[in-house]
Amino acid sequence: MARDRRDFYYHQAKEKGYRSRASFKLKQINEKHHVIKHGDSVVDLGAAPGGWLQVAKELSKGKVLGVDLQRIKPIEGVQTFRGDLNADSTIKRIIKIVGEEGADVVLCDAAPNLSGNWPYDHARSIELTSSALECAKKILKPKGIFVVKVFQGDMFQTYLNKVKDNFVRTVAYSPKASRAQSAEIYVIGKKFLTAPLHRGEEFVVRIDKLGSNGDGVVLIERFVVFVKEVELGERVRIKIEDIKPNFAFANVVERNLAESSEQVE
Ligand SMILES: C[S@@+](CC[C@H](N)C(=O)[O-])C[C@H]1O[C@@H](n2cnc3c(N)ncnc32)[C@H](O)[C@@H]1O
Repeated sequence: MARDRRDFYYHQAKEKGYRSRASFKLKQINEKHHVIKHGDSVVDLGAAPGGWLQVAKELSKGKVLGVDLQRIKPIEGVQTFRGDLNADSTIKRIIKIVGEEGADVVLCDAAPNLSGNWPYDHARSIELTSSALECAKKILKPKGIFVVKVFQGDMFQTYLNKVKDNFVRTVAYSPKASRAQSAEIYVIGKKFLTAPLHRGEEFVVRIDKLGSNGDGVVLIERFVVFVKEVELGERVRIKIEDIKPNFAFANVVERNLAESSEQVE
């Protein structure tokens, strides 16, 4: 059964001129989750031999850049260079090519060389995907999209939570073109958050303004935070509960704070 499926995508890739059967994984991810739109700029980390680059170019028709440790044979309208996604020099070079405004989409199908020792391979996959996330955080536009392959194991949930902290919506998805016996799964983060806040962070604030729905409205580093169940003039300690691209929600965790308590301006 798994073998038939592999052969199917292998032959499909040959027939349609794609460089790898992985092309169909990106096509299926896109059909389900709409990650690449017409005009998007796309950066693909770990892109060789270039199957995803071909699909990304077809879908976006915009700027597409592929980076890999290996050389990628030229693809019309796609830029590539050899680089390690763990290296700062790679990030600098990507920013030079896509521009300071950043990319709409960062893809990462990179995989470590597998040793066959699963706990070790899983740990290396998490290390690589953590670097990919750090890289994406430096090169994505606000509200951008991140797609990354992860090998599942006991550190998967912690990794998923790290992605969740940086995007409004995060899902894990396994496309049909992934082999049935494969432990790989794709994590998709949508709407990259660039707020100067993180979920769970606490701040001391004074409520100087109420919004039309009665929530307190405070600015933290010029970012709007709505605080539930407060009154005008109260000094409170708040905890950030949810972050959207342009504002956040917080709950009160401590009331009646003295004027001397450290306050955020
Ligand atoms: C499964 S292949 C990618 C296939 C590609 N998506 C396609 O459709 O053709 C994984 C790639 O990740 C690359 N890779 C692994 N570690 C890397 C790293 N640290 N920096 C850049 N590329 C890396 C490998 O060289 C390999 O070409």
